Amino acid sequence: MTEAYAAVDVIVAKRDKRELTDAQIDWVVDAYTRGVVADEQMSALAMAILLNGMVPREIARWTAAMIASGERMDFTSVGRPTTDKHSTGGVGDKITLPLAPVVAACGAAVPQLSGRGLGHTGGTLDKLESIPGWRASLTNDEMLAVLRDVGAVICAAGDGLAPADKKLYALRDVTGTVEAIPLIASSIMSKKIAEGTGALVLDVKVGSGAFMKTHERAAELARTMVALGEDAGVRTRALLTAMDTPLGLTAGNALEVRESLEVLAGGGPADVVELTVVLAREMLEAAGVRGPDPADVLADGRAMDSWRRMIAAQGGDPDAPLPVAAETHVVVAERSGVLSRLDALAVGVCAWRLGAGRARKEDPVSAGAGVEMHAKPGDLVTAGQPLLTLHADEADRFTRALADLDGGVEIADAGTVVHRLPLVLERIGG
Ligand code: URA
Repeated sequence: MTEAYAAVDVIVAKRDKRELTDAQIDWVVDAYTRGVVADEQMSALAMAILLNGMVPREIARWTAAMIASGERMDFTSVGRPTTDKHSTGGVGDKITLPLAPVVAACGAAVPQLSGRGLGHTGGTLDKLESIPGWRASLTNDEMLAVLRDVGAVICAAGDGLAPADKKLYALRDVTGTVEAIPLIASSIMSKKIAEGTGALVLDVKVGSGAFMKTHERAAELARTMVALGEDAGVRTRALLTAMDTPLGLTAGNALEVRESLEVLAGGGPADVVELTVVLAREMLEAAGVRGPDPADVLADGRAMDSWRRMIAAQGGDPDAPLPVAAETHVVVAERSGVLSRLDALAVGVCAWRLGAGRARKEDPVSAGAGVEMHAKPGDLVTAGQPLLTLHADEADRFTRALADLDGGVEIADAGTVVHRLPLVLERIGG
């Protein structure tokens, strides 16, 4: 086959800050998926995009080319409006677990194609896989059947969905090119548009534990993704939410499932409940569903019923005991005062060192490993009181994990005013 372009010309154009044409973008994404453009060429192009950016037309075309690299799903036969949520990833972010069954119990259908964790942020599939028997991989027909019967399905995105993104994301991960807004926005939105959801709510995290460390960058990413979704006919909105400290009181796979069950039982940490309810209302509104209020559905057990059916439909036993790590280590407060800092990145890296996350995508994760928090920033603590319990399968993981916490946990004099970001920082779109 004669190729329309030489990869080096496309790289040089972006290196020299020129806009790529639609035809160049279509070709380079397709040729990379076919293996004609080599990894080293795509790495150079990704770096040029990171450094020199893309205009909205280029980002929209890049996204369309990634969608066209694979299949598009169709949920119109489900018979209910579909609505989905995507989080850009954080520490202790288990919101998908209670959220999908809550929204299903309110009358919408939630096709939640999720990923595994990489680095310090956890992955929804890793968390659910700590439930004995639960299966992440479903065929498209199985997925449709669960969605029809239960109203919510959380499963792995199949290989057919945006294969160009799968290849490119793995490459970006090892070439320092993850943080480019055009590449993040097109990566996330190509998968969500190809998935075929009718409405989408983006939870864009801001803070130390997030990709986007500043409000300005997070808002730019959110606006870019909302525009891509709306242009593709998906009713899309975004919330910028805080990720300076972990969400809830747990970071780790089975630990986060346990906390999600507390939320589904009508309890659980206030921040997890608040974000679940806020996102559920947004998802229902975006889908045009006027059902019961998510807070009521959580409180009266209807969301828990949906959860049990959703887990069982994928082979999981909702009553089975969750795995527990063999070893624990308690970190106590060194002095009395107010907990002034519990840094999301420090806790995330600590949980990762304990075995909850993976360094390479083929690594296994420990179901029981992670960090349990006994206080949140702003809480008064007394010397000697437990602050954190670290969980690991092997005790020799504790030394390195404790070193990663260094500087991430601080206690100030009692009476010190602790500045915390509000949970929801801004709403974009809609
Ligand atoms: N999540 C994705 O799916 N893609 C990115 O580029 C970043 C986060």
